[in-house]
Amino acid sequence: MEKIVINGANKLHGEVKISGAKNAAVAIIPAVVLSDGVCRIENIPNIMDVNLIAKILQEMGAKVQRPNKTTLEIDPRGIKNPVATYDLVRHMRASSYLLGALLGKFSRAEVALPGGCDFGVRPVDQHLKGFAVLGAKHIVEGGMIKVKADKLVGGHIYLDVVSVGATVNIMLAAVKAEGRTTIENAAKEPHIVDLANFLNSMGADVRGAGTDVIKVNGVKRLNSTTYSIIPDQIEAGTYMAAVASAGGNVLIQNVIPKHLESITAKLREMGVIIEEYDDSIRVIKDKRLKRCNVKTMPHPGFPTDMQPQIAAILTMADGTSIVNEAVWDNRFRYVEELRRMGAEISVDGKLAVIEGVEQLEGAPVKATDLRAGAAMIVAALGAKGTTQIEDIRHIERGYEDVVEKFRAIGADIRRVYSNDPAVQTA
Ligand code: EPZ
Repeated sequence: MEKIVINGANKLHGEVKISGAKNAAVAIIPAVVLSDGVCRIENIPNIMDVNLIAKILQEMGAKVQRPNKTTLEIDPRGIKNPVATYDLVRHMRASSYLLGALLGKFSRAEVALPGGCDFGVRPVDQHLKGFAVLGAKHIVEGGMIKVKADKLVGGHIYLDVVSVGATVNIMLAAVKAEGRTTIENAAKEPHIVDLANFLNSMGADVRGAGTDVIKVNGVKRLNSTTYSIIPDQIEAGTYMAAVASAGGNVLIQNVIPKHLESITAKLREMGVIIEEYDDSIRVIKDKRLKRCNVKTMPHPGFPTDMQPQIAAILTMADGTSIVNEAVWDNRFRYVEELRRMGAEISVDGKLAVIEGVEQLEGAPVKATDLRAGAAMIVAALGAKGTTQIEDIRHIERGYEDVVEKFRAIGADIRRVYSNDPAVQTA
C-alpha cells in the first residue's frame, strides 16, 4: 500500500502550474458521446477519475487516444449499445453523466448506480425529474438505472435544489431534444459554463450557463470539435491553502482568478496576501492566520470542495472559527484525522467549531475521501514533524502529480510503500 509522507513546517517557494479541471473533464468526456465526429479535448488532467471515465467510453466502443499527456482524442461513433455496467462505473460518481449523454444520443440508457466520494446521501431525484420532463421514464432494476423515451421533447424544469449533477445531466439529455428546454435554479459552477461552451463548440445551442436559468435549444446534430478545458478551481484553492498553512510565497499559474474569488476573499480575511494577475495568482503568508467563519454554498459561494482544506488551516489560526457545511450532510469525517494531529474541533451536525492551536503535530492519518485527503496534505505541510497519509488513492483521483508539484515548491514530501523502512521509522 502506498502512503504519502510529509515532514512539515517548511516554507513553500516558487511556482506551481494548475492542471485542467477534474469536474469539467468528467462532464465533458461523457458529452463526447453526443457527437457524430472526433473530439479533441486539451488541458485534460492526468488523474484517475478522468482516466476512468475515458476508459469507460473506450470499453463501450469509443476510440480513445492520448496524443500527449494533456490531450484526449475521442471518436464516439463505435458506441452502439447505451449500457454502462456496474463493473465499469462503480468507482465513479460522475459516471451518472453517462445517463444524460446516452439518453440524449440514443433516447435510452442503462447505467449502474454511481459510486464516488461518500459523504452522505447522494440522491439523483432531480436528474430523474429533469429526464421525466423531457419525456423519459425510469426504472431501477438490478442495481441499474434505466431511462427511456420514445422521443425527447424540451420542457420547463425548476430544480428543487441547486445541483451540479442534475444541471449537467439535463443539459446533456436536452441538447438534441426537440424544441427548447429551460432549467431554472440551475447550478452556476465554472464547470457548468465549461460544459456549455464545449457543447456549443460542437454545434449545440445552450444559453445562460453561469446564471440560474439555462436555455437549451435542441439541435439535430453535434459535430467534431477541439476544445481546451478550464483550469481546476479546487486544485488551485488547495495550493492556496497549502501556502497559508506552511507559509512562504508561491506563484500559482494557469488559473482563472475570477473562479477563485470566494477562496481569495476568505484567505485575505485570514491575513494571507494574494496578488491577482491575468492567469496566475501569488500567495504570500508570513504571519499567523486570523480566525474566520466559513459557510459553504453553491457557486459563487465558498465551495464545499474546499471546506476540508480551509478547516485544516483554521486549526492553526488565532481564535475560534465556525465552519458551516451547507451543501452535504456528512462532510466532516476528516475531523477525526485532524484531531490525531492535535486539532481542537467539535462537530455538531453541519457545524464544526474549531479552536485554533499554535501548530499541529505530525501523525499517521487517513485520506477518508478526495478533499479530506487534500486537507491532510495541507495540514501536514504546516505541522511540526512527520505525517503519514494512508489511502492516498482517494487523493490521486483528483490531483495530478500531487507529490511532484509540492516537492517542486519546496515541500518535504514523498510517496512510499508502507513496507518501506523509512515509513516504519518515521
Ligand atoms: C458535484 O457533485 C461535484 N462533483 C462535487 O465535487 C461537489 O461537492 C458538488 O457538485 C457540489 O459542488 C462533480 O462535479 C463530479 P450536487 P454532485 O448534485 O453533482 C443534493 C469533488 O470533491 N441533491 O450539486 O453530485 C445533494 O444531496 C466532488 O470534486 C439532491 O437532493 O453534487 C447535495 O446536498 C465531490 N438531489 C446537493 O444537492 C439530486 O438529485 C448538491 O449536490 C442531486 C443533488
